[in-house]
This record gives sequence, C-alpha cells and structure tokens, in this order.
Amino acid sequence: MNLKEKAAKKALSFVKNGMTLGLGTGSTTAYFVDMLGEKLKSGELSNIRGVPTSKATDEQARKWGIPIVTLGEYPKLDLAVDGADEVDPALNLIKGLGRALLREKIVEVHAQKFVVIVDDSKMVARLGMRDALPVEILPFEAEAHIHWLNSLGCRAEQWLEDDGSPAVTDNGNYLAKCWFDEGIADAYALAQELSTRPGIVEHGLFLDMATEIIIAKEDGIEILTSEE
Ligand code: A5P
Repeated sequence: MNLKEKAAKKALSFVKNGMTLGLGTGSTTAYFVDMLGEKLKSGELSNIRGVPTSKATDEQARKWGIPIVTLGEYPKLDLAVDGADEVDPALNLIKGLGRALLREKIVEVHAQKFVVIVDDSKMVARLGMRDALPVEILPFEAEAHIHWLNSLGCRAEQWLEDDGSPAVTDNGNYLAKCWFDEGIADAYALAQELSTRPGIVEHGLFLDMATEIIIAKEDGIEILTSEE
C-alpha cells in the first residue's frame, strides 16, 4: 500500500453509517472512494450518500453504486474527505492542481468535518513554496485576469494543455497558475484580494477549512487537528 492509500484508509475510520459525505477529487481521494465503495458493497458500511466535487469523482462514485445527492437536498455534510497540494502548519491548504477547486470549495464549506488526506510530501512551512497556486478565471477577457494576477507578487500564467489549448474546468472556466518564489507571504490578504476581483472565479487557498489532516509517512500516520 502506498502512502496515499494509507492516508485514504485512515480517513475511512471517520465514516459512520448514515453519513452524508463530500467526496473530493484527485489521486488520493480516488483511493478513498474505491475503499468506500468496497465497504458499502461488502455491507460493512450502509446508508451513506455523497456529494462529488467533480465529474470524475461523480463517475467513480456512481460506478460503485454510492448514492449521489446534492447540497440542495443535503445542505449539511457530516464529513468531507479530500486531498491537497500543500498543507501548512496552521492546517491551511492549497488545492486545485487537480482542476476541481471551485466545486471542492463549494462542497467543503458545507462540511461539519473536513478531513484532508495527504502524504508527507505535501507538508510545507509556507503555502506556495512547493508548487503553483491555481486560480479559476472567467474565459471572458482571460488575458486581462492573468495580467492582473501578475501584479500580485507572483508569476502567473494561463494553464494550458499539452497541445497549447486552454485547460477548461468542469464549470467551463479557465485556470491560471501563480508561482510565488518564496511562498505566499500573507495568504489571508491574498485570498481577500482574489475573492473581491471581478473575473476571478475562485482560488485554491483553502484557509481555516480543514478540521483534520491525515499525513501518511513511511513510519506511520500522523493526524493534525484544528484547534476549534
Ligand atoms: C483537486 O482539484 C485538488 O485539489 C486535489 O485535491 C489535489 O490536487 C490533490 O491531488 P492528489 O491527491 O492527486 O495529489
């Protein structure tokens, strides 16, 4: 079992019969959805339903017969489980390098418990140190949004496919990647700036949202818990 699988397995211990779950996106969460599907199939878990955060997760969950519901039907999720691209010591996250950040954030703000599953390579001293911050932008005047992003102390580029065409999200929007040479100095200030700018649909900073981080390491599992 690799580290991502180990983190996913640990997250299963948070799932109880009768729960409504937010189902994240990415390779780590894909293990979780498979394990959840297996437990439901074997009868070890029952009466579970899920709100998927992407078309890919929706498809995967449906293949397992996991009942899919909406936030309209179930506005209060007992638990959401998802991966992350970076996790800092305050349990703040960068997410979205799997392109699903908007739906992830929409779903995960409805969760009473938000458990993040990562291997220890995702742990950083400061967000933005390891990889780019993804930002979902409106296709209308996309170049102007990228230009503005470059004024925020980062190097921003439109996210392109290998063939040079724009990467498009499940919502029909484009994406930008923002690189911060020394990491993000003030993630709260940056989140505020991004959230109030027209044309910026959503950003990958998930601040004060995670309640638990399950970190899989070669020598075992560590769980960080938020102070609230
Ligand atoms: C999806 O948009 C992301 O937020 C993922 O949760 C994140 O990229 C982690 O992905 P992996 O589990 O594939 O590393």
